Formats: sequence, C-alpha cells, structure tokens
Amino acid sequence: MTKTVVVAGLGYVGLPLAMRAAQAGYRVIGYDVDLSRVKLLEAGESYIEDVPAGQLTEALDAGKFQPSGEARACAGFDVAVITVPTPLRDGLPDLTYVEAASRTLARYLRPGATVIVESTSYPGTTQEQVLPWLEAGSGLIAGTDFHLGYSPERIDPGNSKWTLTTTPKVVSGINADSLEAVQAFYGPIVESTVAVSSPREAELAKIIENTFRHVNIALVNELAMIAHELGINVWEAIDAASTKPFGFMPFTPGPGVGGHCLPIDPSYLSWRVERALGQSFRFVELANDINSHMPDYVARRLMLAFNKRGRPVSGSRVLLLGLAYKKNTGDARESPAIRIAKLLLGMGAHVRAADPLVTETAVIDPAVARVDATPEEIAAADIVVLLTEHDHFATADISHARHVLDCRRVLSGPNVETL
Ligand SMILES: NC(=O)c1ccc[n+]([C@@H]2O[C@H](COP(=O)([O-])OP(=O)(O)OC[C@H]3O[C@@H](n4cnc5c(N)ncnc54)[C@H](O)[C@@H]3O)[C@@H](O)[C@H]2O)c1
Repeated sequence: MTKTVVVAGLGYVGLPLAMRAAQAGYRVIGYDVDLSRVKLLEAGESYIEDVPAGQLTEALDAGKFQPSGEARACAGFDVAVITVPTPLRDGLPDLTYVEAASRTLARYLRPGATVIVESTSYPGTTQEQVLPWLEAGSGLIAGTDFHLGYSPERIDPGNSKWTLTTTPKVVSGINADSLEAVQAFYGPIVESTVAVSSPREAELAKIIENTFRHVNIALVNELAMIAHELGINVWEAIDAASTKPFGFMPFTPGPGVGGHCLPIDPSYLSWRVERALGQSFRFVELANDINSHMPDYVARRLMLAFNKRGRPVSGSRVLLLGLAYKKNTGDARESPAIRIAKLLLGMGAHVRAADPLVTETAVIDPAVARVDATPEEIAAADIVVLLTEHDHFATADISHARHVLDCRRVLSGPNVETL
C-alpha cells in the first residue's frame, strides 16, 4: 500500500524533500502554516529554485503531492518529517517552530507511524524536546508505539552534482526499530544512508559540518585582513597552499557569511555547550566575531578606496553587484550585502544594487535603488563592489568602471582591487 508522508515546513529543505518523496512513490502531504506559500504551490508555482515548476505540476497532477495549510490534512500519516525553521532569537536557539510542528503532528500520530526531525538543532533536541512533545500530544510512547529519529539535511542550494539524492544521508533513531523505520523511509529517496547510533550523533554531525565551514571561512577572512596590511596577496597564497595534495582544503575570503546555516547553526552548539557545561565554545565565538565583522571591513576598504581617489563616501555613488549570500542563488537571508548597504547609506553614499536572482524586494533598505548591472550603470558608479560571484557577474564587462572592489576575486583589470 502506498505510504502517506507528511512534510511539515515547505521551504528550502522541505519542498525538495516533498518532491523527491513523491517521485519515489510516496503520497505526500505538504503542510505549511504560510498560506501564501500553500496557494502558490496549489497553483503549480515553485518559490524554491531547486524545484522546477514542471516537477511540482507533475507531482500535483499525478495526485502524489497535496499542499495544505490545514493541520487536519496531516491525519493518517505513516511518516512525518519536520523541516521547519530553527532560527536564533536574541542570540538564543528558538525551537518554537519545531515545537508547534511537533504538537500538530502529535495530534495525528498513530501507532506504528514514524516521525523524523530534519531541522538543524543542538544535540539532544530530538530526544529531550521533540520526544516529550510528541508523547504528550498523542498519549503514545516513543520507541514502543511510534518511531522517532533525526536525519540532518545537507541540501546545498544551486549544487547540481550533490543533490538530495546523491549526497549520503546521515540517519538515526531513538532505538533499533526507529532507525530501521527511518532508513526504510529514505531508502527509495537517496542513494545511500549512513547510520549513527543515536539522534545526538546525527544532530552533532550536522553542526560539525557547518562549524567546520564557519571556522575555516573565518580563518581565511582574518588572513585576508592581515595579508592586506602586510601587502601580501592572500588569494595567491591560498592557491599555492591548495596545490598540496593532502591535508589541506581551500576556503576563500569574502564579505561575510549569510544564509540560514553558517551564521546560526554553530551558535546552537555553543549555546548547548554553555548550558550543559558552563563553558564557552571558543572556536565558534571567534569565528562569529571575525565573520560578522567582515561587512564592516568591506565598508572600511571602500572608505580607503574613496580616500585614495580624494573623494568622500558621502554623496558618492556605489553599485553593489550581488545581494544573495551565495553564488547563483536568489537567497538573501542574513546576507552580508544587507549590512554593507546599511553601513554605506549611513555614510551618506547613494547605494544601488543589482541582483537579478533576488526577486524579493523587501530584503534590503528601501533607500537602495534596485537596478540592472548595465554597462551604463557600471560606468556611472564611483565604485562598483562585487559581493556575490553569480556567473553573470563574473563575466560582466567592467572595463568602463571607475573602480571595482572585488570581494570574490572573479574580476580582473587595472581598475580592480581584490578584497
Ligand atoms: N536552507 C538550507 O540550505 C538548509 C540546509 C540544511 C538544513 N537546514 C535546516 O532546515 C530547517 C528548515 O530550513 P529552511 O531553509 O527549509 O527554512 P524555510 O524558512 O525555507 O522553510 C521553513 C518553512 O516552514 C514553515 N513553517 C513554520 N512553522 C511551521 C509549522 N509549525 N508547521 C508547518 N510549517 C511551518 C514556514 O512557513 C516555511 O515555509 C532549518 O532547521 C534549517 O536550519 C536548512
């Protein structure tokens, strides 16, 4: 019999998973509290780049996918996956969305069903938080009456090689039966699963992955600032170090980190460490400090560049290329471009920004004019700042730009200065 799967939270993680599960033969109910998203999906419109509208309409037409904003649509599920946001509120983990989704699912939990958490959170969340929420709302016992597990999402928006299907999926359960049920669910969805002994290890694995990136990006960002002062080309040095065939992995400097992973997930772990052990997780704190300082550093470099040209920032025209935090995506969440624009506006600059992939208008201060990166626009700016290395910016004609600050080292020319 076809199994019914509920995916609770249809965002960057949930919608691709729902599509893939439908493709793999499950009957999928997509449950989201955001009714505007549900409406779009019902109309066959995808708001996630990695989900083409064609894939969505195919799943809808085949009756394999049903989006809904009604909690009762979750009734009768065999497997439910929680893919709701886990942001920080005042610097602290905010599990209110996970709690709301868990409590909704608990109402429809039946004996034999499986609940899987995919939202990123600190180790212990599934067993210490989600488990009691599910038990309290259902009157059932986890591990005996229903299965419970955790499987972190490793989705890399815009990456066509390593997709949900091809990337190994770490899986866990609160006991052997739960692990088996979790593995059975992902079996037809992904090429391979990697089992760990409990949800805590799976939760920590996800945070290790993101902390690793966060810390290494902070390392090269600090090196970039130091090397600039020393008159050394850090990019060339990183290239040279990358020729070592073992024991080195290159990371590149940039204007700061964004998205919903790097600026947030490591802090979930440091909060947990502080709470449980009363000590700080120093690497994360240092990395947060360095990476969150990068937009200020970019603004300082711009000020220096204006200084060299004998001009004040105030009254000058600055064109930002890229608002997304990540190459070739339209995701501007927590993007350093937002802070850089704010700093420049505060200095009295006329800020203009081009990013055809970021369609949302509310992401940036309304005082920033949204423009296209036309040759005229580029030529009219006192300084052009490349913040996101979208492919079309890397090939943009900047020969008529007066000055360019390239924060990603994709442009070249006598008028280009690299971060
Ligand atoms: N975006 C990524 O690349 C990525 C990668 C790996 C892990 N994650 C993690 O996955 C989780 C989800 O992230 P995302 O980027 O998909 O978030 P998102 O904001 O894109 O989507 C989350 C969706 O959940 C919905 N939602 C909120 N509360 C709900 C509830 N109670 N019931 C049902 N739906 C609800 C929201 O309306 C939204 O549509 C987070 O924990 C995140 O850290 C994200």
